[in-house]
Amino acid sequence: MKNILVYFGLIITIVALYGFAYVVADQADGDGKKVFTDNKCQMCHTVKSVGIESKKSDASDLSSVGKDNTAEFLTKYLKKEAKLNDKDHKSSFKGTDEDLKVLVTWLLTLKGE
Ligand code: HEC
Repeated sequence: MKNILVYFGLIITIVALYGFAYVVADQADGDGKKVFTDNKCQMCHTVKSVGIESKKSDASDLSSVGKDNTAEFLTKYLKKEAKLNDKDHKSSFKGTDEDLKVLVTWLLTLKGE
């Protein structure tokens, strides 16, 4: 009897871990774009490669922003702790550190077409 309980415990743990990993992987992939639009980044930026269009005429395209940037730099830059060409970013990220991480991870996947 005891063995069966241990066995079921193990199965449940494995299923739970698998589900958890699945959810985390899913978020890191799909939610960066959502964080981007939720934070109105598209007011000033287009991301042509994923179909985000800005209404601003001089919006800069971030389609290949992941090419020569690092997670460390982007994280600091978006919190205005680092400068690009001697300038702060226009807006300081207002969301949580979790969201910023998801956002930066997503930005780094943008490497142009
Ligand atoms: C008020 C306008 C504005 C908003 C809102 C804005 N940005 Fe920017 N962003 C700029 C400007 C201006 C630059 C500077 C240089 C440029 O044109 O690429 C810039 C630069 C960047 C860069 C660096 C691009 C490079 O060439 O390396 C990234 C990454 C970036 N923004 C991401 C974001 C994200 C993510 C958001 C939303 C959280 C956001 N921006 C919101 C105006 C804005």
